[in-house]
Amino acid sequence: MSFRRKDSGSVELEDGVSNPAFQDADVTDSPPDAPKEPDSVYTQVKPYAGMPKEVLLLYSSQARYRVPREILFWLTVSCTLALVAVTVTIIALSPPCLGWWQISPVYQVYPRSFKDSDGDGVGDLKGIKEKLDHFHNLNIKSIWISPFYRSPMKDFGYDVEDFRDVDPLFGTMEDFEELLAEMHKNGLKLIMDFIPNHSSDRHRWFNLSRIRDPVYEDYYVWADCNATKKPNNWVSIFGNSSWTYDEVRGQCYLHQFLKEQPDLNMRNPAVRKEIIDIIHFWLSKGVDGFRMDAVKHMLEATHLRDEPQVDPNKPPEEVTTEWDLFHDYTTSQVGLHNILQEFRAEMESYSREPGKYRFMVTESYDYEEVEKTMMYYGTPLVKESDFPFNFYLLDLPQNTSGLWAKHLVDLWMSNMPRGKWPNWVVGNHDKSRIASSVGKTYVRVINMLLLTLPGTPTTYYGEEIGMENINITADQVQDPFGKYNLSNSRDPQRSPMQWNGDMNAGFNNQTNVTWLPVHPDYKSVNVEVQKDSEGSTMFQYNFLNSLRQSELPFLRGWFCYVRANADVFSYLRELDGLKEAYLMVLNFGKQASTTDFSSVQDLPDQLQVLMSTNPANSGKVFQKSGVPTEPGEGLVIRYSTYTRFHPSHSSECYVSEKACLLETVGVLYKC
Ligand code: GLC
Ligand code: MG
Repeated sequence: MSFRRKDSGSVELEDGVSNPAFQDADVTDSPPDAPKEPDSVYTQVKPYAGMPKEVLLLYSSQARYRVPREILFWLTVSCTLALVAVTVTIIALSPPCLGWWQISPVYQVYPRSFKDSDGDGVGDLKGIKEKLDHFHNLNIKSIWISPFYRSPMKDFGYDVEDFRDVDPLFGTMEDFEELLAEMHKNGLKLIMDFIPNHSSDRHRWFNLSRIRDPVYEDYYVWADCNATKKPNNWVSIFGNSSWTYDEVRGQCYLHQFLKEQPDLNMRNPAVRKEIIDIIHFWLSKGVDGFRMDAVKHMLEATHLRDEPQVDPNKPPEEVTTEWDLFHDYTTSQVGLHNILQEFRAEMESYSREPGKYRFMVTESYDYEEVEKTMMYYGTPLVKESDFPFNFYLLDLPQNTSGLWAKHLVDLWMSNMPRGKWPNWVVGNHDKSRIASSVGKTYVRVINMLLLTLPGTPTTYYGEEIGMENINITADQVQDPFGKYNLSNSRDPQRSPMQWNGDMNAGFNNQTNVTWLPVHPDYKSVNVEVQKDSEGSTMFQYNFLNSLRQSELPFLRGWFCYVRANADVFSYLRELDGLKEAYLMVLNFGKQASTTDFSSVQDLPDQLQVLMSTNPANSGKVFQKSGVPTEPGEGLVIRYSTYTRFHPSHSSECYVSEKACLLETVGVLYKC
């Protein structure tokens, strides 16, 4: 269909085309001699559905169509722009969401000791799967499992024979996959132990390196020596020389741990590539993160010079332990962080999908050199670990006092790079259980400390019920470190998890064997007994963990020191814009103490205890001039005020990422 414009300016329809809107306009619409409008030539054609473009164009320029159209157009444009602006503002103002590794505590499972499903006396992967409810009950979502790789078990799995396989003692790869699937189904994350520093001497690479296979020749750290003359004075962490002569190759190899744990040569790009391939292997199976083992040992100086002795007068043959040398050439070498950053970058490539963030924590004991530990946080431009383990609270037992507790907490807080996320450790498979080293009195207050400080608490299996070390006699020793020196044995803290009062504490129930003895207190200290008992250590753990995850001041708020003396360590947690805040009063001292908060203007006059580690004191109201605590007692005090403590005490306060709450709408924003 087409139109022709008549010379007169009117439009004529072609033959056979009807105008359904046509009426005799002259007759119906206008009086016969009304003056004609300039466009009256078109009036015989009216808009109608399906009209051709040319007709449409004739009308579209008329003011009564054009103006509303333009209004609508600009309205749409401005609404879209406004929407974009609001979205951009919200994104710019929203504080970053917290990751799963920040929200839940990290719980360490030592697989030999957690739950034995097949009754051979050693815990296994199926056993862990049977016990996932425990994590659900405690509101714990992040589980780190110590090594379960194929291993001759000289160092109970930290000597890896095959980085891509599961040791039959712990189960099969299928068991692992089922465990991971079940954990994911239940919203749990699995963090694997990863051991880049060394392998087992039974690893295929080592066997090929010994025979100088051209590909594997430099996979380990070899040096010329003979059976009596070692390359230098370096010592192993487990004691004695860190060099062992290998008759097959006729050289010495380095091992910073057992002689059955030769150090990999991380300066060799081919070795780093192998390690990265293994990282890929597990990430593509779906694991959620890695705990990187013994990272400070990854590189050694190539010049192989003697390390300086701590006591220069000690005869060299008596230099046999870690503590006899300054480890200038065997730990924390330049280049170490580049390697970890390389690992991290690989992990990032698996972290992009929503909900798939892969987490990395590094293990490095740097003792008084806390600034070395902080380097594992990476730099503002290059990511490394999400956090390095903070082992400083392991020193709590050295001096149980409020001042000491504050000092150790502050060691981390004042050295941590800006904006980073802290974490707290009081025990693991290498260290005495805190309940034994610090004494049972302080178990609850320590759990309270961990769960109310800023950052991620870690929980070594059993800490939630206050498990203690077992006693080990020389003939019971399993740990190779303990065989070197009984007092070094790590067996006491590795005893079977205490699930209930049945045979073997419910660790297994088919035989009478357990790889280490069960602690004799298991009848009263176990999960089943404590689960429903209101005053129990586990009940309190559960309460505090839920509080931590549901109350914004704990997860995202300011942390401020309020008081510290020989007995009490007191701090508060508050969030701008939120009325509710929390005052913590923890007695780490040896005597009862009454704390006077009357000079703290921002606190109300009366303070009500939300929870005390001594259940009899929960709910009590104290004047702020005198808040009493017993040794080992901790109080969570909830109070309500809009005045904030931190603005007038900025040097006493920390926050990882500032956030404020718009309480009326319940929205958090950057401030
Ligand atoms: C780490 C582990 C420890 C192990 C050592 C060697 O320190 O935590 O258990 O013996 O590395 O792998
Ligand atoms: Mg090394």
